[in-house]
Amino acid sequence: MVDIVTILKHFSDRFNDYLQQCFPLPQGDEKRVIEAMKYSVMNGGKRLRPYLVCECAGLFGVEEKTAFPVAASLEMLHSYSLIHDDLPAMDNDDLRRGKPTCHKQYDEATAILAGDGLQAYAFEFLANALEIRPEIRLTLLQLLSSAAGAFGGMVAGQTLDLYAKSNGDKEEDENVIARLEEMKTGRLLRYACESGAVLGQAPLDLRQRLINYSRKIGQAFQIADDILDREGDQKLVGKTLHKDDEQSKFTYVSYYGIEKARKIAADLIEEAKREILPFGYKAQNLQALAQYIIDRKY
Ligand code: IPE
Ligand code: IPE
Ligand code: MG
Ligand code: MG
Ligand code: MG
Repeated sequence: MVDIVTILKHFSDRFNDYLQQCFPLPQGDEKRVIEAMKYSVMNGGKRLRPYLVCECAGLFGVEEKTAFPVAASLEMLHSYSLIHDDLPAMDNDDLRRGKPTCHKQYDEATAILAGDGLQAYAFEFLANALEIRPEIRLTLLQLLSSAAGAFGGMVAGQTLDLYAKSNGDKEEDENVIARLEEMKTGRLLRYACESGAVLGQAPLDLRQRLINYSRKIGQAFQIADDILDREGDQKLVGKTLHKDDEQSKFTYVSYYGIEKARKIAADLIEEAKREILPFGYKAQNLQALAQYIIDRKY
């Protein structure tokens, strides 16, 4: 049986070594913001998105080291989204990955700038990844900017997360929750899988399989995050718990209740696993990863 926790751990060790050296040494008066950027990236994230990039690319024979620049730029962008998500104006969180959030460790202005800096550097880093053919790089830049942005991307999802409320109409409420989760969390996870397929110049039908897989695990991933917020162990989760209820967030868990949400997530994971059956044994790690998404404790 595949031990996905150990595989992820070993992957993270290799990836962290790579990521560490992607940042020039901080110098001059701008040192503070660069240190804050590194503080927020090199602080023990699960590295799930980078792993997905490399694993999906690997299905088409792409070596891990070729996928690393794509994985690193995505992790930079993800880390920026977390810094801003934690700001007082957003979720107002003190704890991230078991450590003080960026604005607690530094200050609010530095955290805003560190997020801005990471977002810009994510695109700069990918644009400069000369080992990737220019036309592939351009496609990746288009996909990443769309996944991150305000037109159906992560920023749109974060906006719904802050302002969407139930309007009492069941069908409309269910649509809003699904769209919210799909955009705020789903789009970056989808990019993780799709970028792997693009790097591997995958045939369209197989690329679509990975997109379908990513959409299902993305939704289940956010449901698991919302369940952990309600009943996780804070020491393991590394984030302040019960924030969603305190801030009246509109989530699968608040809307459906925890048992129904758990069942929705479990069904999504079964569907995700079926999507990648055509890859056979080559996708056994992705099969195990899908299960890990809902079994995880942090
Ligand atoms: C947290 O993402 C934010 C959500 C989209 C729910 P992760 O749970 O992947 O966070 P890290 O990167 O492991 O810290
Ligand atoms: C954050 O969702 C999603 C993004 C950063 C885009 P949450 O607000 O639920 O994430 P956590 O629980 O703070 O990690
Ligand atoms: Mg949030
Ligand atoms: Mg949050
Ligand atoms: Mg959460």
